[in-house]
Amino acid sequence: MKILLAGGAGYIGSHTALELLEAGYEVVVADNFCNSSPESIRRVEALTGKTVAMYEADVKEKKILQKIFSEQEIQGVIHFAGLKAVGESMEKPVIYYRNNIDTTLSLLECMEEFGVKQFVFSSSATVYGEENPVPYVETMKRGACSNPYGWTKFMMEQILEDVARANPEMSVVLLRYFNPIGAHPSGRIGEDPEGIPNNLMPYISQVAVGRRDHLTVFGKDYPTKDGTCRRDYIHVADLARGHVKAIAYGASHKGVEIFNLGTGTPYSVVEIVEAFEKVNGVPVKHEFGPRRAGDLPESWADASKAEALLGWKTEKTLEDMCRDSWNWQRRNPNGYR
Ligand code: NAD
Ligand code: UFG
Repeated sequence: MKILLAGGAGYIGSHTALELLEAGYEVVVADNFCNSSPESIRRVEALTGKTVAMYEADVKEKKILQKIFSEQEIQGVIHFAGLKAVGESMEKPVIYYRNNIDTTLSLLECMEEFGVKQFVFSSSATVYGEENPVPYVETMKRGACSNPYGWTKFMMEQILEDVARANPEMSVVLLRYFNPIGAHPSGRIGEDPEGIPNNLMPYISQVAVGRRDHLTVFGKDYPTKDGTCRRDYIHVADLARGHVKAIAYGASHKGVEIFNLGTGTPYSVVEIVEAFEKVNGVPVKHEFGPRRAGDLPESWADASKAEALLGWKTEKTLEDMCRDSWNWQRRNPNGYR
């Protein structure tokens, strides 16, 4: 079975490409490399000994997509192609709405034209909004988002639900990711953010490797045990395996199904810093600063539905996540560059 990974050269896409190839699927990648490098897919090919059909393509552009769909016998699509920096989305909302929503619409139009009926979407825990209590369960209503990035995910989920309702032959799986960290244990592929990282783990690794002076821990007065925010960190390899399960599930189920992909266990910022230092034997200089606007005190998944319906649960520990993040950073201090 041949799967198109839109945005497949990125952090989660490249790990998913590897897991799909290892599970026997064929993989086609379409990416404009606006936040990634083709090198990630070359390394996936080297790690698996298999080839990937790779297109440099803006997934908003229907013409290029039509060429890909006519050259490749695509049977399912996983849509990773999106802009994802929360802060940037506040400054450039139009670019975020245009990119994230147009990529989705163009993919859906081409799928209809070429009779492709299976769609898996990279959604986010951010759609639970600020009102729902933790742990988040898939049956909760989507909540108000605090930034345009979150709203694009909210809107794309709605679009996909509408499309599946109108077309009973469609299968749509919405995967709500929690906080992916870590890297492939080989240290050959990993997260390679442009510029100053927004997310915690790449920031920690860049401090550890000497690229940044210190980590600022955003806030220590939250209503948690140590006063810092708690999140559900998930190893990217576990997350990638979740996509293989979602593709298998979607092949035999029609309609929309939503799955949280998380571990179900939250850790605080301080616990992450301490675990990273302990597992890797490297210091992470850190200081406490004010809260970051828009951060929720706590976010974690009820992950039982994915276990029940997909037969998926996480296998990697926090130690694995910290070790593999550091292994990737240490071997590739400047990412793919
Ligand atoms: P990433 O930036 O590494 O990957 C996204 C990929 O999409 C990149 O390779 C980028 O070049 C590509 N892309 C963006 N716009 C494109 C376009 N118009 N045409 C073609 N390619 C395009 O990010 P990631 O962490 O791998 O995230 C993948 C998806 O998962 C995104 O949709 C993101 O919003 C979602 N997500 C990520 C997280 C996270 O913490 N990493 C959490 C929840 C959801
Ligand atoms: N943090 C710091 N210092 C930093 C960076 C982060 O203290 O330099 C803290 C944050 O305040 C937060 C925690 O580390 O408490 C995690 O922050 P991230 O930015 O790594 O992750 P978020 O939970 O804010 O957001 C992530 C993704 C979003 C996604 C959301 C829910 O970036 O795209 O998870 O899935 F929507």
